[in-house]
Amino acid sequence: MSLNFQFPENFWWGSAASATQTEGSANGSKGKDIWDHWYQTEPHRFFEGIGPNQTSDFFNHYKEDIQNMKAAGHNSFRMSISWSRLIPGGMGKVNPEAVTFYNQVIDELIANNIEPFINLFHFDMPLELQEMGGWENRTVIDAYTNYAKVAFHHFGDRVKKWFTFNEPIVPVEGGYLYDFHYPNIVNFRKAIQVAYHTMIAHAKAVQAYHEDQDGKIGIILNLTPSYPRSQNPADLKAAHICDLFFNRSFLDPAIKGAYPEDLIQLLTEHDHLPVTVSGDQELIKANKIDLLGVNYYQPRRVKAKDSLPNPNSPFMPDWFFDNYEMPGRNMNPYRGWEIYEKGIYDIMINLKENYDNIESFISENGMGVQDEERFLKNGRIEDDYRIDFIKGHLKWLHKAIEEKCNVKGYHLWTFMDNWSWLNAYKNRYGFFSVNIETQERTAKKSASWFAELAKQHGFND
Ligand code: BG6
Repeated sequence: MSLNFQFPENFWWGSAASATQTEGSANGSKGKDIWDHWYQTEPHRFFEGIGPNQTSDFFNHYKEDIQNMKAAGHNSFRMSISWSRLIPGGMGKVNPEAVTFYNQVIDELIANNIEPFINLFHFDMPLELQEMGGWENRTVIDAYTNYAKVAFHHFGDRVKKWFTFNEPIVPVEGGYLYDFHYPNIVNFRKAIQVAYHTMIAHAKAVQAYHEDQDGKIGIILNLTPSYPRSQNPADLKAAHICDLFFNRSFLDPAIKGAYPEDLIQLLTEHDHLPVTVSGDQELIKANKIDLLGVNYYQPRRVKAKDSLPNPNSPFMPDWFFDNYEMPGRNMNPYRGWEIYEKGIYDIMINLKENYDNIESFISENGMGVQDEERFLKNGRIEDDYRIDFIKGHLKWLHKAIEEKCNVKGYHLWTFMDNWSWLNAYKNRYGFFSVNIETQERTAKKSASWFAELAKQHGFND
């Protein structure tokens, strides 16, 4: 039977998750990271007061979870290592218990024909390093490079796809501009420094990997296409600046080995260039990625500013644009994010045309829904909305592949319902629901639909 939407036979089907969101930070021995600390100091910030201590208990349930992944058709799975578990405090001695744990997970995945993709940093700075200034401090770059080498050394024999960072712009936005991550600073100068040092840390990890290992290494970026309200030059300019700040600030150095000239010019004009040291430029240039992970949830719609920014307010990216609420947009009302499936295609065409058609995959895409128990029927959540969401995006991804975009896979966010930072368990994203009292996992309808999709390498619609 031929399918309308046939994907290549070796396409990567799977899902993604992160250490802090799944392992349970109270499990096993582990140093503190910023989430443990923030939850202790300001628990009211977290939805229903739920913190990172237990989450979905992957630490104790990984065997069952990997069987479930297999049942849901996974041939690959992306997880992250918790830096503060592997090296409590972020620097110094390696925790042998963590080495054993990650070895067991990796081996179990491989034994079940699921390729592990490993990410080194998913928003979870070790607390001691944050107390030294986090990414503001170049000593933290050295600590990260050492951590990356430790991880390559222990797991690189079996793991052949590595990622330096997941969505590195998010800790910059959350921690240094918009107050939704610790350390809750609002300071553009610091934000730029943090972003820049993250990129230096990235380049050093890529360098260390290429010197010593034989797989592929990349970065995972949340690419949010910036669509202007109109073709009016002021709207176009607003969208261009947004793109520079939120996409190209990481995309260009990671793939092209250099920052966009327009971004440098803009920061120069406003006297906000980061502090650099000699050799940085060459380092970035010499250490480009092999593989790009693309997280795509929602587009960004922008317009020229309706009024001039208040000169007494702190300098912000938003000095250059207003967000545009396009009439008639299709919303996921629970998460408050627009659903725009074609965005995935536009991203791929951009990568093909402007980024040398770099090898990529969709490393996250997904739909968070509140109170999913409403859709329970005979003990199973009938999440047809999630299946439609995935299909809608896959159709556009299929078109991108037909047009020769170099995209190799699709991973859903996420495998099982997990702890979503400040939103805790408010919006559920998984193929499997999790009862957080009993830790019981139950497959949703999307799990069996996805298994069929992966088996046939495509679907009919
Ligand atoms: C991505 C992150 O930004 O989106 C995940 O990599 C996150 O860690 C996911 O959980 C969904 O966003 P949220 O805020 O609903 O958890």
